Parts: sequence; structure tokens; C-alpha cells
Amino acid sequence: MDDTYILAIESSCDETSVAIIKNGCEEIHTVVLSQMDIHATFGGVVPEVASRHHIENITMVLEQALMEANLTMDDITAIAITYGPGLIGSLLVGVQAAKTLAYIYDKPLVPVHHIAGHIYANNLVEPLEFPLIALVVSGGHTDLIYMKEDYSFERIGGTLDDAVGEAYDKAARVMNLPYPGGPRVDKLAATGEDTYPLPLPLDDDSYNFSFSGLKSAVINISHNEAQRGNEIRVADLATSFQNRVVEILTKKTMHALKSYHVKNLIVAGGVAANKGLRTHLEEVCKENGIHLCVPPIKYCTDNAAMIGAAGYFAYKKGRRGDLTLSAKATDKLH
Ligand code: KG4
Ligand code: ZN
Repeated sequence: MDDTYILAIESSCDETSVAIIKNGCEEIHTVVLSQMDIHATFGGVVPEVASRHHIENITMVLEQALMEANLTMDDITAIAITYGPGLIGSLLVGVQAAKTLAYIYDKPLVPVHHIAGHIYANNLVEPLEFPLIALVVSGGHTDLIYMKEDYSFERIGGTLDDAVGEAYDKAARVMNLPYPGGPRVDKLAATGEDTYPLPLPLDDDSYNFSFSGLKSAVINISHNEAQRGNEIRVADLATSFQNRVVEILTKKTMHALKSYHVKNLIVAGGVAANKGLRTHLEEVCKENGIHLCVPPIKYCTDNAAMIGAAGYFAYKKGRRGDLTLSAKATDKLH
């Protein structure tokens, strides 16, 4: 059988990325151009600024990816594109680039949901084993997904309010840590002590999460300390916050694995880079005979390699887009 080379484009937030992936599992080459430093000065991603930078960079990133991979468009089987969810102005740039390439070079266009990409980042590590539970933890999502086979997604629960990455970023702001807050809270959490009495959020039998109460508790502690003229012990607050997040994510994930009689767990999304979460899940999965797959850090945050991996399976399933394909700021995982 001929090899399938997917050229993938990801531009849903503040990374302009292009990758070439062989057969859904082999990363030939990836270029990620991050705008993080630009947005850091604003304390968060500014959508207008992000889309403008995507426009400036997309052609260069595309050319660089093909050149460094030593390939031409003739070698490419299909073009995979993140059509959503994400920032609409950012998504539009990638979608337009993908449609243009598909038209000019007469290649199939394969629309990929951003979260399917995060999930399939794990396929770049080892082939996914089914059935599995995917714990999706990113800046915009916190979901538990049941997959009985490739490209079949059943959402069994998720956050009722803030996504976990969003909670990290907001908690970090209260702690006066610069953007992006998640990795900084993670780093500090390793140095502090769990001394602040934060609640374990939505500790019930459902597969749902809620992080807005935990975030408010962090804000309240910081205000109370300020009113008393005390400094916040930032490292201790980071440790207390992270412990609660990790505990509830692990508890609900293990509950889902047990109830669905599933022995495979994968973790996906930017917060999968969290050291506390990775370490705790490793321990608990080992104790419970669960096979755990967590992507290396470079595949956790947004990149086109994961879109190329998912794009391969979407392509094999016959998913196609045409020149009417439009970007979607929100969409159900499918
Ligand atoms: O998946 P991602 O790159 O973008 C979205 O699709 O949302 O995730 C970004 C999120 C941000 O909220 C960032 O703070 C968080 O992932 N994040 C982390 C860590 N690394 C990234 N949160 C906690 N600990 C980390 N080490
Ligand atoms: Zn993402």
C-alpha cells in the first residue's frame, strides 16, 4: 500500500504551524511559529493581533515546512486543516490557506476538529488502543471522551464552566505571574506546600467538572490576605491549587475508566504538559493496571503534527471538505 503524506495546518489560536505526517504516526517535519512573546505583553491572546500575525506568517511557515522536509506538494496525499473550534479570525487564515492549496494542487481537503488533533497527538507516540478514555485538558476544554474505535468520540462529561487551562491562567494572574500562567503555576507548585484550604471542586459521582469556584477561592484568599496586609505565599497557593485540580481530574477519570470497563487512558491538550498531573496519573494508573499514554510536551500544546495525525484517520474515514468549508469558533467534537 502506498504511504499517505498529510500536510497539516493549525492556526486556531496563537501558533502558526504546518506539519507533514506519514501514515498518521510518523512526524516527517513540523514548524511551529509561536506568538507567545507578542501576546505576553498584553497578558493574554489578543484575537485581532493573532490573526494579523497568522496572515503575515502562514506562507513562510508552509514553505519552510516543505523545504525542511525535503518534499514538494507532489509528495502530499491530502491537506488537513483545523477548521475549529478556536479564534475565528485565526482559524480563517489557516482554512483559507488550506483551501487555496487544495484548489491549486488538486488535493483532497480534510477538516479536523482541534480536539481530535489533541487526542491523536498520542498516536505519534504509539498506536491508540481501543476502547479508551481520553482526558482532554486545554485552555478551552476539559472533557472526558469515550472512544470505542478510531474517530468515534462520545463525550461522557466535561466542565460546566471554566476549562482547566483557563482556571490555571486566571489563578496565575491573581498570583501576579505573567502569561501564560499554566506552566508557571506548575513550576511553582513543585516548590510549595499545600497549606491553603481550597475546596475539591464538584466532588460528586458525575463525570463533570467545575473550576470557577476553585478560581474564585484563589481570588478570595488573595483579597483576604491583602486586606490583612499579608503577602500571599505564592508557591503554597500554587501547590494547593494544583493539588485540588490534579486530585479531581484523576478521581473522575478513574471513575470513568472503572464504570466503562476501559483499560486505556490517554491525556490530551495543553494542560497534559502539567508535571503534577502527569506524575499523579502515572502512579494511579500503575496501581490500577491502566495503560497510560501522555504525549511529550512538544505535542501537548498547539501544533500541526497532531492535526496531521488526526487528519490521516479522518482521511481514511472519507472525511472531506470543499471550497465552501468555513471556520467555526465552536463545534461539537466529531
Ligand atoms: O491546548 P492548548 O495549547 O490551547 C488550547 O487549545 O486551549 O492549551 C493551552 C493551555 C493554557 O491555558 C496553558 O496555560 C495551559 O494549557 N498549560 C498548562 C501547562 N502548560 C500549558 N497548564 C498547566 N500546567 C502546564 N504545565
Ligand atoms: Zn489546543
